[in-house]
Amino acid sequence: MATQNIYILAIESSCDDTAASVMLNGKILSNVVAGQSIHEAYGGVVPELASRAHQQNIVPVVDQALKRANIDKNQLKAIAFTRGPGLMGSLLVGTSFAKSLAYGLNVPLIDVNHMQAHILAHFIDEEGFEKPPFPFLAMTISGGHTQIVKVNSYFDMEVIGETIDDAVGEAFDKSGKILGLGYPAGPEIDRRAKLGNPKAFKFTKPKVDGLNFSFSGLKTAILYFIQKETKANPNFIEEHLNDICASIQYTIIGILIDKLKLATKETGITHIAIGGGVSANSGIRQALKNGESKFGWTTYVPKFEFTTDNAAMIAIVGYLKYLEGDFAEQSVTASSRLKI
Ligand code: KG4
Ligand code: ZN
Repeated sequence: MATQNIYILAIESSCDDTAASVMLNGKILSNVVAGQSIHEAYGGVVPELASRAHQQNIVPVVDQALKRANIDKNQLKAIAFTRGPGLMGSLLVGTSFAKSLAYGLNVPLIDVNHMQAHILAHFIDEEGFEKPPFPFLAMTISGGHTQIVKVNSYFDMEVIGETIDDAVGEAFDKSGKILGLGYPAGPEIDRRAKLGNPKAFKFTKPKVDGLNFSFSGLKTAILYFIQKETKANPNFIEEHLNDICASIQYTIIGILIDKLKLATKETGITHIAIGGGVSANSGIRQALKNGESKFGWTTYVPKFEFTTDNAAMIAIVGYLKYLEGDFAEQSVTASSRLKI
């Protein structure tokens, strides 16, 4: 069969970023993301505002993605979109847009699971980035999710551990809120952690059986610790901010690495890939690298722009599903709690 030029347009709108990407045969031609700064004032994503901002952003974002890829919409072979999981009002904007566009262009529609996409982002053709071999373990760590997934093949995935309360990104963001940092606090805690002593303060790790996680107790422990210390010294936070950030990050990384150690022991799989917004964290990246010599792991960390929410990861899933002829009907609906 002659090689075809399979151009896919992908749309992602599950949370507070409106994103579109054009892919050609597994390679990214454009990857456009419009964030929504409106949520900063509220210290978290406000679903109703997110949905409205998606409606304003989606046309210009898709237009930019096509322009940067230097193609016309009539060259598209399929439209991929995030079906879930995510915020219903946000998902609806991308879903209805993708459905109308596919209908108008008379091309197949491809529904994508956002959590599978965070994992399959590792299969985007990108120079200098190796693709993990099957089976491998994927740890998806974001503001909405924390999972360890056994990945047997592209579409055969099994969640073997997940959070029973907060996601790891929330642990970063809520700790940051207690410290008076802006939203999202993850990147700021990461930056400050590099300047502080990770062992300055000790926070107990939660005891959760098996491969599941819990982060809500840590947040409470940090809150009580800060309340106690600021009672004794009102300037405690500003005098020790870098040390506090380093200690929080050290504790969170410890929790993640402990579970990965257990997961590799239980499954015998030592190839580990990470994905999701928190995989941008420099401490986690370093801890994984250290695991290569310490525990015999082979680790895969995605390109920075594919860690936080983006449509390139939706495009690669769209492409893989296109090759299998796995298309969605026009009657497909968004699903806020879609499972892997
Ligand atoms: O994957 P993502 O963009 O959106 C969700 O699907 O949730 O992840 C956003 C999360 C936020 O909680 C943010 O604080 C966190 O990723 N994050 C980080 C870093 N960069 C983003 N957390 C720790 N260190 C970072 N460098
Ligand atoms: Zn995400």
